[in-house]
Amino acid sequence: MLVVAEDALRARAREYREELAARWPRSRVVFASKAFPCTAVQRVMVEEGLGLDVAGGGEIVTALAAGADPALLVLHGNAKSDEEIAMAAEHGIGLVVVDNADDVDRLEATGREHDALVRVIPGVEAETHASVLTGHEGSKFGLAPAAAVELIARIERSPRLRMRGLHAHVGSQILDVEPFARSVAPLAALGEFPVYDLGGGLGARYTYDDRPPSVPEYLDALIGAAREHLPAEAEVIVEPGRSMVAAAAATIYHVVTVKRGAVTFVAVDGGMGDNLEVALFGQRFEAAIADRLEAPDGELVTLVGRHCESGDVLVDGVRLDAPRVGDLVAVPATGAYCHTMANNYNGNRRIPVVFASGGAARLVVRRETWDDLLARDVG
Ligand SMILES: Cc1ncc(COP(=O)(O)O)c(C=O)c1O
Repeated sequence: MLVVAEDALRARAREYREELAARWPRSRVVFASKAFPCTAVQRVMVEEGLGLDVAGGGEIVTALAAGADPALLVLHGNAKSDEEIAMAAEHGIGLVVVDNADDVDRLEATGREHDALVRVIPGVEAETHASVLTGHEGSKFGLAPAAAVELIARIERSPRLRMRGLHAHVGSQILDVEPFARSVAPLAALGEFPVYDLGGGLGARYTYDDRPPSVPEYLDALIGAAREHLPAEAEVIVEPGRSMVAAAAATIYHVVTVKRGAVTFVAVDGGMGDNLEVALFGQRFEAAIADRLEAPDGELVTLVGRHCESGDVLVDGVRLDAPRVGDLVAVPATGAYCHTMANNYNGNRRIPVVFASGGAARLVVRRETWDDLLARDVG
């Protein structure tokens, strides 16, 4: 199961909101729902006064179910469908981030008015895995500055669209503040607008050795650049996902078998069905036996999942205290993108999400059932 420390989640949301407001009062924190897209998490963000970034129709549906004000939603997507644009129109979503000229065609075709941001490629490389890098030249997201200029002019001529501002997002799991700061000037070069959405991307702490910048350090750099380059009266938005939720949750597994040989494999009742971060981009996690956390002299093991892939490794090399069948193993920092990318590989029933607060636990997403696995098979 995925256990979320609700108080930690709320504290992080508040920290982001207060630290941003202290540096740039005309500002908004918008949680990137994709990092943990379920109504319970989105509701916490709404209750803490945050907006929500929604990438597509599914996240619109859960955001609205969570009680979000549609005016505080920011719709993203590099391939928004007609249906998703229609949903934006129907619900009156606050900002639509235009990624391409086809978005503009579709928005105009709704016959409604829309506030638009244009997503710009800032041309910034950051040190992170290639699959989560998005602000570099050649990215599939957004428009190079010259193409953005053309689309901005088209939106400004549109009778239905209001050109509100610009958006940039450098990438994810970025452990250095400098690329964020560098992403601001390329936006300023495109003109003055009322809104600048500077994206998310701050890295989370996954391993004992990781030292991600703190929220104040990140915002000092980002807002420092905003003060230098952006109009003082503009609204600034940030869209944290991973750094908002990763550290607030841990996945708890049962040890199913321990196989000792050249390598000791500790296999658990989960794996890449509930955590694709390892297989997708080699993210390292830590792990411990839940009731014997300290294991400086523990056995060096490879913690693996139950799926039919040799790549289904949760932690390649971790010390566990005398692991045995039936132990509970905790893998911390699984709050970001793990629930998101959970899947049914090998008939996996996706795991439940439990909120813990003040010594009490509450189920917020139930475990899938065998029947759920059959529910879509109609032929
Ligand atoms: C447009 C946009 N904003 C924000 C985010 C959140 O990024 P992160 O989870 O790294 O903070 C993403 C993630 O891919 C994104 O694409």
